[in-house]
Amino acid sequence: MSNKLHFTKFANMNLEIGSFIKSINSIDKVYVNVVKPMRDPGLKSSFMEKDSHILLVEDNIGDMELIKIMLEEIKIPAKSLLLATTLNEAIAYVVSKKNISIIILDLTLPDCYGIDTVKTIRNFFPDNPIIVLTGMHDEKGAMNALREGAQDYLIKGDSDSRTLERVIRFAIERQLNITKLNHASEEIKKSKEEILRKNEQLRSLSAYLQNIRENERTTIAREIHDELGQQLTGLKMDVAWINKRIGHDEPTKMKLNGMLSLIDQTISSVRRISTELRPDILDDLGLIAALEWQNEEYQKRSGIRSIFNNNVEELPFSKNIATGIFRIFQETLTNIARHAHASEIITTFELINKNLVMTIVDDGQGFDQNEVSEKKTLGLIGMKERAFMIGGELYIESAKNKGTTSILVVPLLTQ
Ligand SMILES: Nc1ncnc2c1ncn2[C@@H]1O[C@H](COP(=O)(O)OP(=O)(O)O)[C@@H](O)[C@H]1O
Ligand SMILES: [Mg+2]
Repeated sequence: MSNKLHFTKFANMNLEIGSFIKSINSIDKVYVNVVKPMRDPGLKSSFMEKDSHILLVEDNIGDMELIKIMLEEIKIPAKSLLLATTLNEAIAYVVSKKNISIIILDLTLPDCYGIDTVKTIRNFFPDNPIIVLTGMHDEKGAMNALREGAQDYLIKGDSDSRTLERVIRFAIERQLNITKLNHASEEIKKSKEEILRKNEQLRSLSAYLQNIRENERTTIAREIHDELGQQLTGLKMDVAWINKRIGHDEPTKMKLNGMLSLIDQTISSVRRISTELRPDILDDLGLIAALEWQNEEYQKRSGIRSIFNNNVEELPFSKNIATGIFRIFQETLTNIARHAHASEIITTFELINKNLVMTIVDDGQGFDQNEVSEKKTLGLIGMKERAFMIGGELYIESAKNKGTTSILVVPLLTQ
């Protein structure tokens, strides 16, 4: 028997495992523990489990005997050997439910030849390491076998028992790791699906709450406007009535006039509060009128020059979509008033390729989006979520001292 050591080609596979582990680590740190480091391949004992077998698939009796001798040299007893001289005989061991640690596979069998042999065995024994036996000048075939899932190869007539031992040991270790990696990636896949499912649930919950909130606002706005408004108007008329009858009692008249103007102020407060809760105009005159009105109101109150360019005819938006767009506009203007120190805002409302696009540009101080995402504020997240709820998307571009641009895109198909 030749004493030449044959260098096995597993360097590439280790690289692949290494980069796989890295990719798993980067996907989710939680699963690092699932992928245990390789066991020390230098350990002498127990590289094969107790009561496990080596399946030797070889049709050449001479080669088979040689392998047997080598296995005996490395103290693997003959009773742990399962023999097959054809592919079909090998496959029959699947049903035997024997604990097979490793398969040593000749690529040239009477009923199968070359790479197909590896593919078939890999199919029937997906979790068992395979060592391929190849002829002297068939390294290319051996490399192909590795690509098809064999762990290693031995060159017939050019391998000794030490090589065989090492190859078996490494192949078992490698297969163990691959099985663990497969298991880990299966777990990751499951967790990812679970996260997606939970995300979906949270999204529907958030949409549901948003709707409730919007409906409540509408009801409260109406009640305040109608009930309080009417009662205050009644009160005002009564005070005016008394005022007429009071004659020339100047101090009382002054008091009553004071009451009248207080009632007027209260009436406008009630109007303002109910409009802020939900402007009638949104339901009565439609989205674009509501946006223009909001823009005017904002300009008056904030003192920031705010230009609204509308290039869209009124579209039949559903109530939800109109409300979503309106609220995103309001929230963006509020953010500008609170944070931007801007002197001008330009909003453009237009149709681009069957998308409704609302662009709001301010010339304020801008912000660093990475810093903001650590602030854990909910305004921007809420706006993005609202955009998603109406089938659209909100993009925000900003940088320190460069102003902020918010672009809301809503495809018209969803109308
Ligand atoms: N137009 C803007 N100009 C400058 N900074 C902004 C603007 N819009 C948002 N920001 C920054 O983004 C942060 C997050 O905004 P948001 O989520 O609405 O929370 P909040 O308004 O409650 O602070 C703000 O605190 C602010 O620093
Ligand atoms: Mg905000």
